[in-house]
Amino acid sequence: MYTMGIDVGSASSKVVILENGVNVVAAEVIQVGTGSSGPQRALEKAFEVSGLKMEDMTKIVATGYGRFALKEADKQVSEISCHAKGIFFLVPEARTIIDIGGQDAKAIRLDNKGFVKQFFMNDKCAAGTGRFLDVMARVLEITLDDMAEYDSRATEIASISSTCTVFAESEVISQLSKGVSKENIIAGVHQSVASKACGLAYRGGLEDAVVMTGGVAKNAGVVRAISRELNREVIVAPNPQTTGALGAALFAYEEAKR
Ligand SMILES: Nc1ncnc2c1ncn2[C@@H]1O[C@H](COP(=O)(O)OP(=O)(O)OP(=O)(O)O)[C@@H](O)[C@H]1O
Ligand SMILES: [Mg+2]
Repeated sequence: MYTMGIDVGSASSKVVILENGVNVVAAEVIQVGTGSSGPQRALEKAFEVSGLKMEDMTKIVATGYGRFALKEADKQVSEISCHAKGIFFLVPEARTIIDIGGQDAKAIRLDNKGFVKQFFMNDKCAAGTGRFLDVMARVLEITLDDMAEYDSRATEIASISSTCTVFAESEVISQLSKGVSKENIIAGVHQSVASKACGLAYRGGLEDAVVMTGGVAKNAGVVRAISRELNREVIVAPNPQTTGALGAALFAYEEAKR
């Protein structure tokens, strides 16, 4: 039996196809969010990779910001529940999840059965989210893929004191004009994102193991900064951008078995 999870985020669309609730046969990401082409292109890619078609799917669950716009879905489940489900499947020792996506950041606390005990979210402001990193990468004229490497060459962490993305952008431009290296500025940018995420993670008490997910988990510079700030190991979820879609596919499997 095949089930599908679709995560329509603000920055990207993700599709996971699961066989019998255990084997991932496709986990695809398209870097376009809620716009109509993102989910459709992610679906097409997942079918291409798996050799399957829509009729093969027993159940489909949608999650993410754009989940209600998908006519293909049998059910909608929140992103918090889907990330919790996907992460617990991959890393059963996880008790704190940090998800940083394109437009929000969340800390989710799990119990030892994988149920959500508490969650904290910043969805009011771009600072501390992927959007902040996207803006800074553009100002610094480097790709998202290169950010971690620049960070690893930093000799000092530049101070980015503004808590607002727009002011922080001006701060970065001013630091560049003063001759501060891109490496040090990027380390400061990562530190700024990390301190906001850790603020969320500390609320309600922090429990190990800490697992990071969402697209920003692909940036090893942010992961290092969070690990430094929390003073503990941070596990990066395998294929972190697709864990919400994986959780949705697992919910679809439970629904199908009913
Ligand atoms: N290869 C990469 N290297 C570093 N960072 C990346 C990479 N790919 C994506 N990102 C970061 O991940 C962010 C998007 O994350 P993700 O795809 O989880 O967001 P989303 O689920 O669409 O958003 P949200 O959950 O907030 O609606 C981007 O803003 C970018 O900063
Ligand atoms: Mg997301």
